[in-house]
Amino acid sequence: MNVHVKAGATLLDDTNAAFAEDVAIGLSQHPKQLPPQYFYDEAGSKLFEQITLLPEYYPTRTELRILRDRGTDIAAGVPQGAALVEFGAGATTKVRLMLHQCSFGAYVPVDISGDFLNEQADGLRKDFPHLAVYPVTADFTKPFALPAEVKDMPKVGFFPGSTIGNFDPHEACAFLKSARDILGDGATLIIGVDLEKDERVLHDAYNDAAGVTGKFNSNVLVRINRELGGNFDVPGFIHRAIYNRERHRIEMHLVARKAQSVRVLGHSYAFRAGESIHTESSYKYSLDRFAALARGAGWTPQASWTDADGMFSVHALKAVV
Ligand code: AVJ
Repeated sequence: MNVHVKAGATLLDDTNAAFAEDVAIGLSQHPKQLPPQYFYDEAGSKLFEQITLLPEYYPTRTELRILRDRGTDIAAGVPQGAALVEFGAGATTKVRLMLHQCSFGAYVPVDISGDFLNEQADGLRKDFPHLAVYPVTADFTKPFALPAEVKDMPKVGFFPGSTIGNFDPHEACAFLKSARDILGDGATLIIGVDLEKDERVLHDAYNDAAGVTGKFNSNVLVRINRELGGNFDVPGFIHRAIYNRERHRIEMHLVARKAQSVRVLGHSYAFRAGESIHTESSYKYSLDRFAALARGAGWTPQASWTDADGMFSVHALKAVV
């Protein structure tokens, strides 16, 4: 392991070094920004789990309902004995549904956090004793190799939760192309995509009355303080989520209540009163706009399913040779 020693006697290993670099780059930009993947340390993952249970946050429960209600249709497009490759590994609720409804030969969860991945894998092995589980520790937005054991199985990718919504359009296209390369010709991709809707509903989903989303948002500052020796006054920044209509996205921001200056790893960052850090974008699609994006990345849309209120969608895409 490569250990760097920086000002303030903060020890940085390789993971922290990437965090440090992303923070330094993001806070030097105009407007300031931070990448959303840093929300998810242990505390942040717990806060996200709480978000999924909020009355205002419809995506998780709506997607689960679609996967459950349309299980037979979804399973009909999935070949027997395929390897299910999940991009990112969080709660196993959705993948368990898939495993119950379709007959997969193997499950390949892919995530950057190896410890969490192996815990999840052990739980699944216990409950599905006949399923081969091959976790892969990798950044799923970059090329990675599938385990040799699944080489000859048909491939089904799984990317639930509208995680694709965190990507800007060009990144979303790059991800879909990369997933096609990794899964190969003939593969299927089952992907969850949040839909455009009444702005009030979107606003409330990201500005919940209990304030959990605000805590989740601020957690990135808590992490900077703890892991990089920063001195953010966390209550000095207010959570704000707004819908950007032209760009079809919810934007989360942390807005400085007053002018202040923050030090992180020997650098000083000045904030004007009301200046914001853009911490996340969550893109919303129409069925047609998502299908067009998928086509542009080399996938052929096969089917899409929504809930009765048209809140959320699940798409089956095929890598037609
Ligand atoms: C996990 C990226 C799908 O964008 O809705 C929830 C994250 N941010 N509340 C989303 C999130 C604020 C979530 N995704």
